[in-house]
This record gives sequence, C-alpha cells and structure tokens, in this order.
Amino acid sequence: MENAVKRIGVLTSGGDAPGMNACIRAVVRSANARGIECVGIRRGWQGLISGDILEMDNASVSRIINRGGTILYSARCDEFRTHEGQEKAYATCKLIGLDGLVAIGGDGTFRGAQDLSKFGVSVVGIPGTIDNDIVCTDYTIGFDTAANTAVECMDKLRDTMQSHERCSVVEVMGHRSGYLALYVGVAIGATAVLVPERPYDFEKHVAEKIRRARISGKTNFMIVVAEGAASGMAVGEQIKKELGLDPRVTILGHIQRGGNPTAKDRVTATRMGYEAVQLLAEGKTNRIVCASGDQIVNVDIDEGLAMTKTLNPEEFEVMAVMTGR
Ligand code: F6P
Repeated sequence: MENAVKRIGVLTSGGDAPGMNACIRAVVRSANARGIECVGIRRGWQGLISGDILEMDNASVSRIINRGGTILYSARCDEFRTHEGQEKAYATCKLIGLDGLVAIGGDGTFRGAQDLSKFGVSVVGIPGTIDNDIVCTDYTIGFDTAANTAVECMDKLRDTMQSHERCSVVEVMGHRSGYLALYVGVAIGATAVLVPERPYDFEKHVAEKIRRARISGKTNFMIVVAEGAASGMAVGEQIKKELGLDPRVTILGHIQRGGNPTAKDRVTATRMGYEAVQLLAEGKTNRIVCASGDQIVNVDIDEGLAMTKTLNPEEFEVMAVMTGR
C-alpha cells in the first residue's frame, strides 16, 4: 500500500511548543523521501477550513530545526468544533486531494483529528505541548525546553531571593496538569509545590513547609504554583497574611512556550514526525504517535484519548521527602 498515498497535509494547532518546527521538518522530509507530496496548512484547523495552505518541500523546512514557535502558525478554532466547520475542512481536504493529515498539538488537536477522521480522512496526531498532559504518551514535544526555561528563570529568582532573604512565589503553566510544576520544583529544590492533582491545603502544603525550612536555617523560600492549582498572586497574599513575609510573585507565563528547543525536543520531534509519515504511508489512520520510555510507538486515537493520566507517584514522593512531609 506504500504508493497509494500521494499527498499529505501537516498542521500545528493549540498552544505552540518548542520543537514543533523540528517536527514539521521531519514530516516534510520523511514524506518527500517516500515520494509523497506535503502541503502545509497554516493556522491549525482554521486554516483547513479556509484553505490557508502552502506547498512544502525539503528546502522550505531548512534551518528551522533550532527555532521555537511554529512556521505554520497555530490557533484555537471554535468553528472546527461544529459540524459545519468540519464539513468545510473536509471540503478543503477533498479539493487539494489529501490522502492523509498529520496534526501536531495537544488533546484538543487530537479531538479535532478524531472528528475529521469520521469524514474518511486518514489522520495521525503527534503530541506537542509544554504541559506533558496527554494521557497516552510518556512525553510531549516542548516539555523539556519549557522545563529548562522555567528552571533557568527560577535559578535567577533564587539569587535575588537569597540576597534579600525573601520568599518567591512562581506560577508556572501546565493548564490543568501539575506535571511541569512538579518537575521544575524538584529541579530547583523548591520549598513547596502546589499542583492541581492534590487538593490545596495552605497550612499543610505551604505554611508548614516554610516554617520547617526557616527552623532548619533557611531565610529564602521558593514556592512553585501550577496555574491549575491556584493563582500565584493569591498564594503570595496568603503567605503575607498568615506568615508575615513579604513575598515577590512572578508569573512565568508564555515565556515558557518560546525559545530554541533542547536537543531532546528536536530529536523526539524528528522521530515522531518520521513515525507519523510511516503510519500514513502504510495506510494506517486514527493513530497518535507516542513515546513509551525511549521508544516511539503509536496508539489508536479513541483509546488514547480515553486514558487517564496521573502524576508520577515516585516523583511526588521524592518531592515530599525533599520538602519535608
Ligand atoms: O497548553 C499549553 C498552554 O500554554 C497551557 O499551559 C496554558 O494554560 C495555555 O496553553 C495558555 O493558552 P493561551 O496561549 O491561549 O494563553
């Protein structure tokens, strides 16, 4: 069935993530190596609805492996959630003769791919989000870069907190997941980490941790707050009110989504892009490319979206021990 696929599309959708460009490059080059044409769709699902397309070849993806963001742009698209929107997107697929589509993004992107597949379009999803919150994969493109960016920022904050013997409250992204916050918290030696997966108890999870750190001789404190757990500002206010400290609050925000991807993100993105094209070339559809440890594998899109992910209990335990229970 290898030669039945003549032309595929690639798009990025939802929040961008460092490494998306490396993934686009891998899709285009893997397709071309098999004699398959590749069409870029700009602005995610919105672009598929409006026919916002561009021809892509090996040269058009030169010198992007190291660049953050996505050359195809990204968007969140309400119209694509409607049947009418999906019909328009399908019409574009028919018009330009797409035999398959690679959609790079988060679980919202995969739900879109799932909807489009019902019209008979072959789809493969690739996980690209800094949140690492996609249930069926151990890793999502962009997480490593975002975590390193957050760590670098927090190391800088720590320097000034040390000099002034202050408390820093840092809010990190992650949507409804605490994965990024917990990982970064372990990496910087945080005093406390708040994640949405654990109900927030100020006395136990913040106040007591700060008290213990102070008793052990510390005079500066780093509190990491996942955006899905609480607002950094609110936690800062509470620390001021209950403990009499004068915290400084930093919301890292979208800085975590930018920057040159790390080697891990470039390599994972490249391997995933290659796998996606291989699946489409083999006539497979409705798959999500996943990482299982160091292996690149794939799962059925319906099964993948139905799974539930929890925080790594071992990492949680390590954090608890490091910050005093
Ligand atoms: O999903 C990636 C993410 O950066 C989340 O961590 C965050 O909650 C959200 O996107 C922010 O979205 P926007 O770019 O629309 O502000």
